[in-house]
Amino acid sequence: MIKQSLYGIVILALAYPALSAKWPNHERDEPENFVYEGRREHPGGFIKDFYGLLANCVPDANAGGSSIAAQWVRFAYHDMSTHNIDEGIGGLDGSIRYELDRDENIGLNFTLRSFVGHANRYLSFPDIIAVGVIGAIATCGGPLIPFRSGRAFSGQAGPFGVPAPDQDLADHLEIFRRQGFNQEEMIGLVACGHTLGGVRNRDFPYLVPPNPDPSVPNIQNFAPTPKFDNGIAKEYLAQTTNDVLVIGVNETTRSDLRIFSSDGNEMMEVLAHDGTFSNTCRHLLERMINTVPSGVALSDVVELLPVKVGPTFLGIADGLANAYDRLTLRTDIRLLDPNPNRIVTLYWSDCFGGDTIYAAQPYNISDASSAITKALGHSPVRYWFAAPVDIPASVSKFWFSVDEGNGEPPTICDNDGEGHVIKQDEVLLAPTLSWVDSESSNTTQIVIGVKGDSTSSQIYGKAHDPEGDNGSALEIDISFTLDESIQSVGGYSFYRSSTISSLSFSFDISTVVDGRTYTEEFLRSFFITKSSDS
Ligand code: HEM
Ligand SMILES: *[C@@H]1O[C@H](CO)[C@@H](O)[C@H](O)[C@H]1NC(C)=O
Ligand SMILES: *[C@@H]1O[C@H](CO)[C@@H](O)[C@H](O)[C@H]1NC(C)=O
Ligand SMILES: *[C@@H]1O[C@H](CO)[C@@H](O)[C@H](O)[C@H]1NC(C)=O
Ligand SMILES: *[C@@H]1O[C@H](CO)[C@@H](O)[C@H](O)[C@H]1NC(C)=O
Ligand SMILES: *[C@@H]1O[C@H](CO)[C@@H](O)[C@H](O)[C@H]1NC(C)=O
Repeated sequence: MIKQSLYGIVILALAYPALSAKWPNHERDEPENFVYEGRREHPGGFIKDFYGLLANCVPDANAGGSSIAAQWVRFAYHDMSTHNIDEGIGGLDGSIRYELDRDENIGLNFTLRSFVGHANRYLSFPDIIAVGVIGAIATCGGPLIPFRSGRAFSGQAGPFGVPAPDQDLADHLEIFRRQGFNQEEMIGLVACGHTLGGVRNRDFPYLVPPNPDPSVPNIQNFAPTPKFDNGIAKEYLAQTTNDVLVIGVNETTRSDLRIFSSDGNEMMEVLAHDGTFSNTCRHLLERMINTVPSGVALSDVVELLPVKVGPTFLGIADGLANAYDRLTLRTDIRLLDPNPNRIVTLYWSDCFGGDTIYAAQPYNISDASSAITKALGHSPVRYWFAAPVDIPASVSKFWFSVDEGNGEPPTICDNDGEGHVIKQDEVLLAPTLSWVDSESSNTTQIVIGVKGDSTSSQIYGKAHDPEGDNGSALEIDISFTLDESIQSVGGYSFYRSSTISSLSFSFDISTVVDGRTYTEEFLRSFFITKSSDS
């Protein structure tokens, strides 16, 4: 016995690096998806387009006249601002969510909306804020900031500590030191932030005078363009800047002037060189989003995967493939660049164990590119499959062939030879009978098909909401009752959940059959969305 388990441990340790590259691997795939694509989409109806909110960096009159990108960068800085390097506390931890009524966070309460409802088990609320900075900077033409996941959500308010324009240089030097940045880095970080957006009369009436025309957003921009560029430094040195924190009539609130000139303009001279600005800001903003409490360990840099198989499930009573009386294998594969000559085929084998192989073609191909992938020179495309599957045969595993149409033999994507394994078909999602109604009521209802004659007492679920207060995820119990109004199909009966009042991202549903428990994680993005959710 002991020998065997020791042997097992050795094998596990050796096999780990290879296994970790395999599918499924939500820890790897969810952060990769979110930072490189910036949206979650399922053609069944769900789309939550995070980077889409950035509206290509165009200033937004409804948001007070600056770009959404500017607001996201300021939001992240203010969240990080309370970091205390001496005590190893605070940083990018999402505590700003509980600090929005403070004067030091004036004007940011509306911005919170952008970040809510994207987190999941593998990506925390402060991770979403960090991805927001990366998306904002790239969308405005700035550098690509590497992403590491793993920030812990504090779930409660932290100390005060955001700098204000009327503090003196010594105060600002001390605040930035406490945040982990020296004088040169302070100058850089302020310039990297203040290349976007500006100061609003609404938030700082004593800095920006009222505007006689109330229909025009009253904002005084820091820099000449909405883009992420070194105009802020060039105009400052040329003394043509419009940055109110440099040229404001009241000397007390000229904080940018005091900071920028504090080293005799040396750092600003460096930043005004084309090329240096981008590179310097990439490092400083990376440090800003990676400033976390001392106990938090971030992941390795999340790399863009060249081939990626998405969240997959067997659906039942699924209208998408007109397969109400069959199962539907829903999966997708994302490839790095488009190729109109390419033919992608899904193959699978059944549970009978014979040599029969089934095949299906994608029902849709969609663009999965973003400002981030484009900056890397790629426009990934996703091939969507919804293949009808006979119920008794079911699916044991599936794989893909990719024929680029160039005369070369097709590439097989089969999870390093193992195939992509479907673990169970005892409890299945009925995706087109399940729904989320997040915008109007934040409610969800799930319908599942259960094989055999399981009684409802043996079916239970938990909704997992990662955005609970105090940083702990909320686990909400879900009960199911047999819904006899839905005709059973192929030995599956249908159970409807209680109405769940939560924006939970994922749901673990379990059923007990013959003493064995089968658990499946269903993602909200698999469901039909009742009302718009963007
Ligand atoms: C001494 C340090 C700083 C002071 C006193 C300061 C002050 C301000 C003020 C007064 C505004 C106007 C906000 C409004 O009208 O709603 C502002 C905007 C902004 N700040 Fe700072 N800031 C500082 C450092 C930083 C840093 C380090 C960053 C990021 C790296 C940053 C990023 C931004 C951005 C992007 C905006 C524009 C927001 C928008 O247009 O909505 N700031 N800052
Ligand atoms: C944000 O705060 C301002 C000022 O306190 C308030 O007028 C506004 O209604 C708030 N907006 C939201 C979305 O909470
Ligand atoms: C300048 O600003 C400071 C800080 O807001 C304020 O206390 C002071 O009264 C202002 N001075 C003038 C002349 O408006
Ligand atoms: C395919 O996907 C695109 C983009 O997601 C969508 O606009 C289009 O309607 C889809 N077509 C079909 C046939 O589903
Ligand atoms: C839905 O959730 C959002 C964000 O958590 C919240 O602001 C809103 O009040 C909720 N709506 C209802 C009807 O509960
Ligand atoms: C969160 O923690 C604070 C302080 O520890 C406590 O006062 C509060 O009741 C907690 N909130 C929840 C929802 O547990």
